Amino acid sequence: MKRAASNQPSKPSGRTKGNLLRGRFKRPRLPEVEAFTASLPFDRELYRHDIRGSIAHARMLARVGLVTADEAEAIIHGLSAIEREIAEGRFRFTLADEDIHLAVERRLTEMIGEAGQKLHTGRSRNDQVALDLRMYLRDEIDTMVALVDDLRRTLIDVADRHVETVMPGYTHLQRAQPVSLAHHLLAYVEMLGRDRERFTQARARCDVMPLGAGALAGSTLPLDRAGVARELGFTKLAENSIDAVSDRDFVLDFLFAASVLAVHLSRMAEEIILWSTSEFGFIALPDEFATGSSMMPQKKNPDLMELIRGKTGRVVGALMAMLTTLKGLPLAYNSDLQEDKERVFDALRTLKPALSLLAQFWPRIEFHVDAMRRGAGGFALATDLAEYLVARGVPFREAHEVVGALVRDRSEADQGFEGLTVEDLRRYCDKFDSDALRCLSPEASLRSRDLPGGPSPQTVRRRLGKLRNRERLS
Ligand code: ARG
Repeated sequence: MKRAASNQPSKPSGRTKGNLLRGRFKRPRLPEVEAFTASLPFDRELYRHDIRGSIAHARMLARVGLVTADEAEAIIHGLSAIEREIAEGRFRFTLADEDIHLAVERRLTEMIGEAGQKLHTGRSRNDQVALDLRMYLRDEIDTMVALVDDLRRTLIDVADRHVETVMPGYTHLQRAQPVSLAHHLLAYVEMLGRDRERFTQARARCDVMPLGAGALAGSTLPLDRAGVARELGFTKLAENSIDAVSDRDFVLDFLFAASVLAVHLSRMAEEIILWSTSEFGFIALPDEFATGSSMMPQKKNPDLMELIRGKTGRVVGALMAMLTTLKGLPLAYNSDLQEDKERVFDALRTLKPALSLLAQFWPRIEFHVDAMRRGAGGFALATDLAEYLVARGVPFREAHEVVGALVRDRSEADQGFEGLTVEDLRRYCDKFDSDALRCLSPEASLRSRDLPGGPSPQTVRRRLGKLRNRERLS
């Protein structure tokens, strides 16, 4: 259409073409630009939260007199219908809408006409998207915490059955000292407990309400920010409109918590892989969790665990990507920030099934407790022997050397500690008595390491009780 060279305002034509924002443009956007810049293919994941936020915004607009009660009702009704359309797969998405925010608004206006055009009053997609992502993450973090707790509970249950099951503890992946399987599993419970804390902290960082910041500088309109916050269950208001739209620290906090969790799950997966090797032989992989080989008929592969380990790279990568996106961004909103969502979605898509699969996996493992016990004896008891001497007044360094010499001689003779007599021991140090032989059993060794935090059955039972009660994990 050719425009007359006059000062007559032209009709807003962009809207009729289905794009709400192009009033100031003469020509449409290149389709490739549209495709490259759209977030709609992925941010539709936020639709529920977007609609919830818009409903609260509309109610507020009515409270402060910017829309009528009828208009607000039409908006809320329309938004609820749109939510159903999307949920049931009836919503027609088009890339021209750019993102979920415009898609919903476009449809609302189609449905209810002019009242729909009032919804975006006093709001920008900049504060809207910050709101949506904060609400989305609050909910997803709750799910993550529940899944972490499920895994902790499972590990606690398995540990409960293995308080007396001795196994070798390792340093440098060399047999070190006897521990119990329960004590080993509870190490993971402690790690996951810190993960839970980190997620809870990240959730608190999400719990700040940005709406009212507008594009970056607030609004001349009498918006009731506190009312919106209350309705959406936020405990804090963003205190600076510029920060409100440019801050993604809460995403970093979440991705950091996710990365540490991923690293923990990766270490767990690695141990499961090691334990299931013929070399270790500590566990048999349950069939439901193992994979065959396309060529070697005998194989039973721990692919699931390898992929839990392998996918750690994606989650840590998401954190790195987000840090890199934020670095060097001037205030306030920049489109770079649109890159935040896929990182979050991907981390969640990776970790949620990993957590739930591990929780199903542990109770089904068959533990080869005899192999574990064998590994826990022998030279793994050398420290106990040295501490026996210390208890009889021998300086620790001297005791270390005495037992070191004993180990050297025995291994040169291709023998372990088995079959040692008190006379043998006395040749190395006259402080050895007949009771010295008693520390040469893995069970005795375990029992006597009963400091707080130690592996003795008594200590571990106490910790198990605390975990169940204090952390309400029963
Ligand atoms: N799609 C954008 C995002 O995901 C929200 C819109 C931001 N505002 C803008 N003017 N592009 O972050």
